[in-house]
Amino acid sequence: MNSSSTPNGFAELGIGGTLLAAAVRAGFEHPKPIQTLAIPPYLEGRDVLGLAQTGSGKTAAFALPILSRIAALGTKRLPRTARALILAPTRELAVQIEEVFRELAKGLHLSTALVLGGVSRASQVKRLHAGVDVLVATPGRLVDLVREKDVSLAETRFLVLDEADRMLDMGFLPDVKRLVKATHRDRQTSLFSATMPAEIEALAGTLLKDPVRVEAAPQSTTASEIAQSVVMARTRQKRGILAGMLAGDANGPVLVFARTKHGADVVTRNLERDGFAAAVIHGNKSQNARQRALNGFRDGSVRILVATDIAARGIDVPGISHVINYDLPDEAESYVHRIGRTGRNGADGIAVTLCDPAEVSKLRQVERIIRMRLPVTASHLDQPDPAPQPRERPVRAENADQRQHHRPKNPRSAPNGVHAAGRKGPHGKPAGQPREEAGGENRHALPRQLMDKPTAKKPFRNRKRRGNFRRQATKAA
Ligand SMILES: Nc1ncnc2c1ncn2[C@@H]1O[C@H](COP(=O)(O)OP(=O)(O)OP(=O)(O)O)[C@@H](O)[C@H]1O
Ligand SMILES: [Mg+2]
Repeated sequence: MNSSSTPNGFAELGIGGTLLAAAVRAGFEHPKPIQTLAIPPYLEGRDVLGLAQTGSGKTAAFALPILSRIAALGTKRLPRTARALILAPTRELAVQIEEVFRELAKGLHLSTALVLGGVSRASQVKRLHAGVDVLVATPGRLVDLVREKDVSLAETRFLVLDEADRMLDMGFLPDVKRLVKATHRDRQTSLFSATMPAEIEALAGTLLKDPVRVEAAPQSTTASEIAQSVVMARTRQKRGILAGMLAGDANGPVLVFARTKHGADVVTRNLERDGFAAAVIHGNKSQNARQRALNGFRDGSVRILVATDIAARGIDVPGISHVINYDLPDEAESYVHRIGRTGRNGADGIAVTLCDPAEVSKLRQVERIIRMRLPVTASHLDQPDPAPQPRERPVRAENADQRQHHRPKNPRSAPNGVHAAGRKGPHGKPAGQPREEAGGENRHALPRQLMDKPTAKKPFRNRKRRGNFRRQATKAA
């Protein structure tokens, strides 16, 4: 295909040849606004701060110009180095971004690799041995590989923080700072997100050199395709309301968000008791179970996925019809990302938030950052609480239900009191679950931090355990 003569808006932005053909093959015919804004300055070598709504094409806005620039280098990559580094806050998002790069890099003879926790380290190290063009990573594991000299970032001249405000939040910041410091001095840095609180943007400024700020929409703007509403209901009423929605209008692929890992387990269990098959994804699940749940949701074999905020950012599953917030998130920005799993790439979507009176202050915070009032379409507050269901004990605290159903035989085998995958390996440890699992990448949890909270264990020998991670991790994503 003579792609240079193909009429394509990406060609006008400076993307050409094999890469342009790959973009067309991937279904990218016409650039999205953020792509039109970000690609030309990126190709000129400028640092970029890119803000655009959820589902609006930020990934290709950095993937295309990075691949274009690397393809133009014409130099050989060095062993154990990475020319470009993309950092993402969750493993699932890193996997997804690497897939986009791999698809677009077809025919360019550029290599991609993934570094993430929760899966075999040896195969990652092996993959890095010859050096890679594009490395997509979550910070925790990469810090360890850099420290142990399995990879050097000294030749990394392209750096992207996807979900940048999250990556610069205090939970990830120490690791991200270490990694940034290890990259080449003359690197080109870009930060992308749908949200960017002012205090984080100030910090972002310290990583960027004379950046271009491109904004397809003011930060925290929700996609206009998403019909948002609030249903007022006491916590005890939410189970019945959710079941009613799933049996009614919400009959397509539905993503239900719960605030805590335990809460997500309880919602899933109750859905099953109410006759709905559902999968669950949160930071206490093994990486296999996490990816299996997400893949099932993607391929349609799972209609209802219950998740913590681990699935709130970046995950691109086309066709999700409803996002239901069973609880409001602690961090208002998470609302924007959660509901952004629907209404992507121009599709319609519905987002319903179940709000207990005690959560109204969180709702107001959300309304402040999205700069709009959310319509309350129903209220159940004048109705009595439902009678307890058979086999359902009154839940006093969140842990009550957990004790009933998930009492670990050996408490040490389940660091946060919840079994990871239900299977046991030798020594009572959850089988197939690496030491780093249980909490994801972020091991420096602070109250603001919701996703991928710290693991109870330090993953590698030369890391000292800091702080009271075990207790902090209990309620995390
Ligand atoms: N130019 C394009 N033409 C058609 N589809 C596109 C184009 N750019 C991106 N897409 C598609 O739009 C969807 C959303 O893109 P992407 O995941 O990059 O959004 P995002 O802005 O990163 O969202 P989030 O803030 O949730 O991470 C993807 O399925 C992607 O393949
Ligand atoms: Mg994204």
